This record gives sequence, structure tokens and C-alpha cells, in this order.
Amino acid sequence: MKIAVIQGPNLNMLGIREKNIYGSMKLEDIHSQMKAFAEQNKLEVEFFQSNLEGEIVDKIQECMGDADGIIINPAAYTHTSIAIRDALTAVQLPTLEVHLSNIYQREEFRHTSLIAPVCAGQITGMGPFGYHLAMVGMGQMLNEVKMMKERQPKTNIPS
Ligand code: DQA
Repeated sequence: MKIAVIQGPNLNMLGIREKNIYGSMKLEDIHSQMKAFAEQNKLEVEFFQSNLEGEIVDKIQECMGDADGIIINPAAYTHTSIAIRDALTAVQLPTLEVHLSNIYQREEFRHTSLIAPVCAGQITGMGPFGYHLAMVGMGQMLNEVKMMKERQPKTNIPS
């Protein structure tokens, strides 16, 4: 089971940018913790960060047939990107949206997520721990999908 972790614009600046809001942990450190969790739970994980909307759309499209689930922090594109929302709808993979800060406690323009309605769930305001929660949640969702597939009766259609 493979999880694609997609990080939007300016998240490469974690540990430097607005530490009072986003904390002092670097993106690489968050990813190392997620990788350790994935290894312990026999999950494969792949990380991608881009500051460009089109590159994020391309990455989501590439997940089709390659990944089983997506964890995404679309960062500022959360509030603006119909293109990222449409890409997620197109690939039809279980998706969790993560935000380090609580977007509902911040400026009004951050209160709307165009992405949340096409995700299975949203984790917001838990800092870097939110990514761990997303890994746990995604692991659980993927297990449920796997069990459902295994439970389906095997068709015996002669060739
Ligand atoms: C963010 C919240 C967004 O509003 C903001 O533009 C970000 C980070 C978060 O993780 O809290 O860049 O997605």
C-alpha cells in the first residue's frame, strides 16, 4: 500500500517561516517521522513538494495507478485552487487534507477550503503531529478498502 504525501507552496520554508504559526520543525524532519511510521506499519510512502499549482496537479494525476491514497497540504492553494480540487476528484483516491495551523482561527480568507469537500477528512491545527494523525487515518482507511476487496466473492467467469 503506497501513500503519496503532497506539500504545497512555501512548506519547503517550514522551520524558517512564521515559526509562531507553523513551529520550528523542518519539512524533512516531518517527512522522516512519517517514513518511520510507514516502515513500522509496512506502508510505502512518497514525498513531493512544489510551489507551483500545475506541478501539484501533475503529481496528483500521476498518483492514479501508482498510489493507494493521498495526504495533501495544499497550503495557500487550499483557498483558491479549483484545479487541485478537480485533479483530486479525477483520480478518485482516498485523500486526507492536513494543515499545521488551525485555518478556522485565522484570517477569514483561510476559512474556506476548496479541497475539503473532495477529501475523506481534514486535520487542522495539530501542528506537525497532524501529519502523523493523517498517516494513522490513511493506514486505517487503506486497510478497510483492502479487507472489503478481499471479502468480495471471486467471480468464476470461464475465459
Ligand atoms: C497552511 C495554512 C494555509 O492557509 C497557508 O497558506 C499555508 C499553510 C497550514 O498548514 O497551516 O501555507 O496550509
